[in-house]
Amino acid sequence: MIYYDNGIFILETKDTSYWFKITKWQHLEHIYYGKKIKRQKSEALTLKRTAMIGSTVSYSQSDLNYSLDTLCLEWSGIGAGDYRKSPINIVGKDGNFESDFIFKDFKIYNGVKKLKSLPYAKYKDKECKTLEIKLAEKHSNIKLIMYYTVFYNSNIIIRKNKIINDEPQIITLEKVMSMMIDIPNRNYEFYTLDGGWIKESHLHKRNIEYGIYENSSTTNSSSNRHNPAIAIAENANENTGNVYGFNIVYSGNHYSCIERSNHDILRIQMGINDYCFKWKLKNKEEFETPDVIMTFSSNGFNKMSHNFHKFINNHIIRKQWQNAERPVLINSWEAYFFDFDQKKLINMAKKASEMGIELFVLDDGWFKNRDDDKRGLGDYEINKKKLPKGLNFLSNKIHELNMSFGLWVEPEMINKDSDLYRLHPEYAVEHLDRDSKLGRNQLVLDLCNKEVRDYIVNNIIKILDEVKIEYIKWDMNRHISDIYSNTKIDRGEFCHRYILGVYEIFKRILDKYPDLLIESCSSGGNRFDLGMLCFSPQIWASDDTDPIERLKIQNGLSYFYPLSAMGAHVSSSPHQQTLRNTPLSTRFNVACFGCLGYELDLKYLSREEVKEIKDQIEFYKKYRNIFQFGKFYRNKCYKTNKVNWQVINKEKDKSLIGFYQTLMEASESNDIMNLDGLDIDTKYEVKTKAQRIFIKKFGGLIKHITPVELNPDGNILRLVNRYYTINECEESYIGYGDLLMQGIKLNNQFIGSYYNNETRLIGDYGSNIYIINAIK
Ligand code: DGJ
Repeated sequence: MIYYDNGIFILETKDTSYWFKITKWQHLEHIYYGKKIKRQKSEALTLKRTAMIGSTVSYSQSDLNYSLDTLCLEWSGIGAGDYRKSPINIVGKDGNFESDFIFKDFKIYNGVKKLKSLPYAKYKDKECKTLEIKLAEKHSNIKLIMYYTVFYNSNIIIRKNKIINDEPQIITLEKVMSMMIDIPNRNYEFYTLDGGWIKESHLHKRNIEYGIYENSSTTNSSSNRHNPAIAIAENANENTGNVYGFNIVYSGNHYSCIERSNHDILRIQMGINDYCFKWKLKNKEEFETPDVIMTFSSNGFNKMSHNFHKFINNHIIRKQWQNAERPVLINSWEAYFFDFDQKKLINMAKKASEMGIELFVLDDGWFKNRDDDKRGLGDYEINKKKLPKGLNFLSNKIHELNMSFGLWVEPEMINKDSDLYRLHPEYAVEHLDRDSKLGRNQLVLDLCNKEVRDYIVNNIIKILDEVKIEYIKWDMNRHISDIYSNTKIDRGEFCHRYILGVYEIFKRILDKYPDLLIESCSSGGNRFDLGMLCFSPQIWASDDTDPIERLKIQNGLSYFYPLSAMGAHVSSSPHQQTLRNTPLSTRFNVACFGCLGYELDLKYLSREEVKEIKDQIEFYKKYRNIFQFGKFYRNKCYKTNKVNWQVINKEKDKSLIGFYQTLMEASESNDIMNLDGLDIDTKYEVKTKAQRIFIKKFGGLIKHITPVELNPDGNILRLVNRYYTINECEESYIGYGDLLMQGIKLNNQFIGSYYNNETRLIGDYGSNIYIINAIK
């Protein structure tokens, strides 16, 4: 999968090829990255240099056509004629910024060169091969080692770099990317996931014109503003067209940029953000960059997503949770916020257990005087008023109910009103002589300080030693503002050292408790990234559980992250943040495309709602493996008020479709439900999953089917709504894969003129799941 022939490197995965060569002047020239091609002579693919281009600087007087500015490169620098953005900026002797890295030698070996301080992709023997290339800076003793690791079966290439200072004096790295690649432009479009709190990861696309487009974070988390993952596509849709995808295994300030040069070359780079970054390297010291994961698909976005999903499930997630089914959980937060006690929790747990829920999660508010979000963070003593018998008692009760027990923590934070702050104000990230800058009433703990890291690790391990806990929800609810540590480490190193501190803490806890399931969270999806996924197999995708908003959030995430990584809960309606009323069925139909949980007060559920939820959980467990690990398709919809998601198992004999309607339109034309991934020679049955419709949906219209007229807001109808539901129309189709994949024409929706039990009554925010089974 890695070949070297006469100055040319060829990297091959199952479906892709990546070629580059050593030029006459020892630079690495990019030749090709795309659909797999045969190994052969490369002249036809190489960008030509048969003329000297005006306004360029020649690298050598003996070769006037050789200008770094017009070459497609694998790496570049400053001061040798390339005016595009440099992937590296080193300040060396006498304040010199120039760098010109030239090829020295290379080696190829099985496996990965493991990073020392950062998380990295895991692999088994022979699953990957690495090409290690040594470059040397031409006018100093600085070395750059570039790594290309090829995961053949997943169509993934990982890039990263290491800088070694062999200069006698200190050098300062002001920027060092993990990856740079130049490709000839083909009218590409640039895709990113952007948003904010409760509106994370919405997909955005823009044309790439001349200039520079950046996607970055400066909050010292990967951020809900701009997720680190990006894609570049040429006239692509879900199933056709060329798409490049990139993501970084890093949870802090990230940076990527796309630069379209005046000679129509696209430079793509990705790495740690140079925002407030200045890293000093003494003689013989090294700096390693995070892994950048790259993939290419010539079959549109779905295939890019399949490559990423497979790779993340098999190589990013820790082995204990690799492809292991995640439990159905109940979380106490939206039911009680801070207002709970032992009795309320145990009652909730009893109901949850009867419904088939497998994990009970106690969220915020269990420690010290944490009765609101102004106090207590940093302390680990139990809140005796709420939990007089302690955590152990509660955990035992939960286990007696045949559920596992999970606990919320926010270890990276401190409130000023806490014993920890009173004892150690210097543990907080703030200038002690300036006004505190608070976010959600809290400060960040200084993870650059070893004493702080020890404090956190010791406290979490103490709880895990004392209480039977199978799951931790690891929250992190504010951005970092002050770039400052009271330990007086260099400020330019603060941001990166903070993230290294986070990783060290996770590692130390998981070394002792390797089976612990961690769900990371940061006010929802503020830290949804591959770095976190190396420790926490699932991430709370958003505080927004409104299913219609989740259609955008989960859809966006699905481009780069598998469904097994997304925490998705059913909550109450009207919704906490949007006031939107949605059917219980749709709340489930969206949440089941992820790691299912419930987050609502169970005691207010009607008998019919309890029955519906029991059925949902039973159904989810039956198909959980496909929902979490199946191949996921975003299927084409012809209307803008529809979303169509599909998962299918490896054997292609079981598949599920979620078909969602946002706003109903009057007298809508027929819906066509597209399917993908089926075997064309297999016969399948497609059936609607049974679901209940609650009477209250129809208000006064119910008079059309009741013998007597009832007050739409009266006691009788309210009572009937608790004890009686009607069944949603159920469709059933039989056909071979080839026929079904032409798109199923569904039954009519209710349009006011007629009703029978073949009418789809989905209305605003309605949806159905369709179950597809091969007929043996
Ligand atoms: C923010 C999280 O996203 C919520 O789910 C909840 O855990 C709160 N923090 C608790 O403070």
